[in-house]
Amino acid sequence: MVADDKRFINIAFNVVLIAKTQFIYYLQLILVICFAYTFTATGSWVMQSKQVLLIVSGGIAAIKIPELIRRIREQGANVRCVLTKGGEQFVTPLSLAALSEDKVYGDLFSLTDEHEMGHINLSRDADVLMVAPASADLMAKMAAGLADDLASTVLLATDKPVICVPSMNVRMWEHAATQANVETLKSRGVIMVGPTEGDMACGEFGMGRMVEPSEIVDALKTFFGDTAKPLHGRHAVVTSGPTYEAIDPVRYIANRSSGKQGHAIATALAALGCRTTLVTGPTQLADPAGCTVVHIESARDMLAAVNAALPCDIAVCAAAVADWRSADAPTQKIKKQAGTPPPALEMVENPDILGILSEAGNKRPALVIGFAAETNDIQENARAKRHRKGCDWIVANDVSPATGTFAGDDNTVHLITAEGAEDWPKMTKAKVASQLAARIAQYFEAAE
Ligand code: CTP
Repeated sequence: MVADDKRFINIAFNVVLIAKTQFIYYLQLILVICFAYTFTATGSWVMQSKQVLLIVSGGIAAIKIPELIRRIREQGANVRCVLTKGGEQFVTPLSLAALSEDKVYGDLFSLTDEHEMGHINLSRDADVLMVAPASADLMAKMAAGLADDLASTVLLATDKPVICVPSMNVRMWEHAATQANVETLKSRGVIMVGPTEGDMACGEFGMGRMVEPSEIVDALKTFFGDTAKPLHGRHAVVTSGPTYEAIDPVRYIANRSSGKQGHAIATALAALGCRTTLVTGPTQLADPAGCTVVHIESARDMLAAVNAALPCDIAVCAAAVADWRSADAPTQKIKKQAGTPPPALEMVENPDILGILSEAGNKRPALVIGFAAETNDIQENARAKRHRKGCDWIVANDVSPATGTFAGDDNTVHLITAEGAEDWPKMTKAKVASQLAARIAQYFEAAE
């Protein structure tokens, strides 16, 4: 072979080698991208290595729990089960142990269990406690704070988030006692998943069926996705709308607040993962999704609802609370009487909710934000209001009729803090809300 031929073969060999290496490199890259895409698209990463403590109470829906465990584990999470005596009637500890590949806990007074894994550690090791199926009985115990078996004791002793997946007969679900218990649990931050409507094992039809395992897994994914959000673990109380102050059972004093700004703030905080309680006066608006909504009428009702929702980390008082109410609101309608002058209303001052929250001692939220509805000297009045009320921030806005702020969708605000004033350009109330929520998140990030 001549020297040129040899060189040609060498070059050709090297080209093939480089091409092969490049091919393998790109193939690997494509595989990694495909894997990452599948992983993210299915949301699998959010549940990776999470610990779910699954509390299985009594109900026919418990037969779906083995499938639920399989599906949760498919997402990369670990499951440990607590099985109540009622639950044992429908599903065996052995099948739960086999599917979770872990011991199943059931007896509060087992010395071996307490030695190996005390009831406090069961909760301490978990990222979330999920009660599925959640029977009417177990939810009643949770609401009342009873602790007479392992499941209820763990639930009382935990400081971890709790998700309930109710399952029961339609009449049990609709019973006022169950509904009151569900409301109590929700107001304490328990997340409810379902129930749904359908045919029941008892032959009836209606609300009370446990949602399907795939939907429960979706709820878990949403929950774990939320834990990555900046305000996860915080609680906000937002006031919104006008208050109605009774003159008699028929007539009232009110104002022009639409509630749009307060509702938008509650929505924006919830979107950042904040547990949000919205206390609202009468408005035309739908309840924002993802918030606990308490409907009230008067300023005194609003104060009571806000106090009941404490403690919280953030208070945003966006409500246009009536400053005064009629001193005497008779229980019977005031009648017009010919020849007599109109009744003179004696007014008394309402409690100042923002002021009370700002001075709430050890119950004071870490960040208290008020609004200042002004028609003139906006920034000056707002600065004075911040001092007078003792809050941290004031969002000042011009509510003169010409601005259309009260009923409209836009707002032009100034954020007054201890550091000074910021003038925000005119924007939608939704944008004001998301910008304010982002500022709140930054505040807590900086404080950590
Ligand atoms: N506020 C409240 N309770 C009241 C009155 C007002 O919590 N009884 C709150 C509002 O929600 C708002 C702030 O206080 O965050 C300021 O409300 P605003 O109506 O602007 O001011 P007032 O305190 O009512 O004072 P003035 O009407 O004299 O401007």
